[in-house]
Amino acid sequence: MANEDLFKKIISHCKEYGFVFPSSEIYDGLGAVYDYGQNGVELKNNIKRYWWDSMTLLNDNVAGVDAAIFMHPTIWKASGHVDAFNDPLVDNKDSKKRYRADVLIEDYLNALDDKIAKEIEKAAARYGSGFDENMFRSTNERVIENQNKRNAVHARFAEALNDGNLEELRQIIVDTEIACPVSGTRNWTEVRQFNLMFSTEMGSTMDDSWKVYLRPETAQGIFVNFLNVQKTGRMKIPFGIAQIGKAFRNEIVARQFIFRMREFEQMEMQYFVRPGDEMRWYDTWKKIRLNWHRAMGLGDSKYRYHDHDKLAHYANAAVDIEFEMPFGFKEIEGIHSRTDFDLSQHEKYSGKKIQYFDPELGQHYTPYVIETSIGVDRVFLSIIAGSYAEETLENNESRVLLRIPPELAPVKLAVLPLVKKDGLSERAREIADMFRFDFRCIYDEKDSIGKRYRRQDAIGTPFCITIDHETLSNSTVTIRHRDTMTQDRVAIDSLHEIISAKVDMKNLLKKVME
Ligand code: GAP
Repeated sequence: MANEDLFKKIISHCKEYGFVFPSSEIYDGLGAVYDYGQNGVELKNNIKRYWWDSMTLLNDNVAGVDAAIFMHPTIWKASGHVDAFNDPLVDNKDSKKRYRADVLIEDYLNALDDKIAKEIEKAAARYGSGFDENMFRSTNERVIENQNKRNAVHARFAEALNDGNLEELRQIIVDTEIACPVSGTRNWTEVRQFNLMFSTEMGSTMDDSWKVYLRPETAQGIFVNFLNVQKTGRMKIPFGIAQIGKAFRNEIVARQFIFRMREFEQMEMQYFVRPGDEMRWYDTWKKIRLNWHRAMGLGDSKYRYHDHDKLAHYANAAVDIEFEMPFGFKEIEGIHSRTDFDLSQHEKYSGKKIQYFDPELGQHYTPYVIETSIGVDRVFLSIIAGSYAEETLENNESRVLLRIPPELAPVKLAVLPLVKKDGLSERAREIADMFRFDFRCIYDEKDSIGKRYRRQDAIGTPFCITIDHETLSNSTVTIRHRDTMTQDRVAIDSLHEIISAKVDMKNLLKKVME
């Protein structure tokens, strides 16, 4: 299936099965804003629980906070967001469509990477086990040509980004002959900077109102509470503060469904370390965070690291963890070494001393920070995209299923009476009730058993049990496994153990620690 088709199917699947709806849909929607439906919210909550537990249960020295969305406006001046939280935008004069200049160039670089990868894949298939990739890369003319082209553009791009050179960004777009995907022309405007923060007024009258911002990242709520948590929690460096919450960005080029939204949710952790120790912790958290993603079992090869071409104004090292979405490898998490930038800035702008006294060193200092920052919505999309499958069955029927990790699935168990009569419905309801306090379980008696199985497959329910006449006589049920569709006859008494073993969040958490 072409990737574009797959992506369209995923979007409509999310809507049809109550995962994600366009916001304000009856009013024709609101650009790049989405609502999560009955199954979506369960999956989202499970993702957040997985992340939260992996931070606060697995690490004695990571504590949580929940800071307000509104913050003193000077915070955003101090953090650099008022002056530097910009995207470089360019318009196509014919289609009147607006693009991020950096994204246009990144897409061009990715297309060259894909070309090279395809050449290598073809050659590997042609030469079989004797294929030497390094040799092929250094001798094949087409690969060398594309690699040189890529390296040259990449070098110019990185320099232009770091210098904030907008003219050069435009020149790269012109020189590489990037065309507008809509009009097909290369008729571009100048590249301009655009600030991404939303603002609003706080206060009741024009005279006493303040311009406040909707936070574009949750991190600042952590920085300004650094001393509160450190002192009240008697925390010793190194320690971390974790937070989950909404963030807002006026994304101009908002495409790709929930990948780039104007209102989204972040899970961020700031890890405060001794100055000079930051690279060791940066490497440690890079590994832990990749483990967290891989533990979900969507496939190790679907993740990769990508070092930043341009470091944000606060960072001295930064890497993204990317996931292979249907539209290519894309960032889902960033790990940043933020130096002492934020704490120092808040000290400067607030006039309050924000330092830590290190009893072992016997000195005060401003801690350095390693940040892990991940978007809930992007993890959500990675799970849906990575688990979506269409299968043709033996009877030539087909099924669509989501192979969501059982620990994160919105519903863990569906209880299905074979027929509605002979007391089967009543017995099925009793069995469903047995799990009320343990995990999310739904009861369904409508339609044929086959249709009911399909509905559960489509939302990723790992287990279905069928209650039939035999159940009434010997207290056994049929349990069906989502991925294999195999069915076993088991005692009702054993259900709790069988299901818990697969849906317990501990399974994922243990893998993170491996
Ligand atoms: N505090 C650092 C920070 O905010 P970022 O790379 O701008 O860094 C971190 O964002 C993560 O937040 C991204 O990796 C992504 O998962 C998520 N994110 C950022 N912008 C987003 C958007 N417009 N829609 C959905 N998720 C977004």
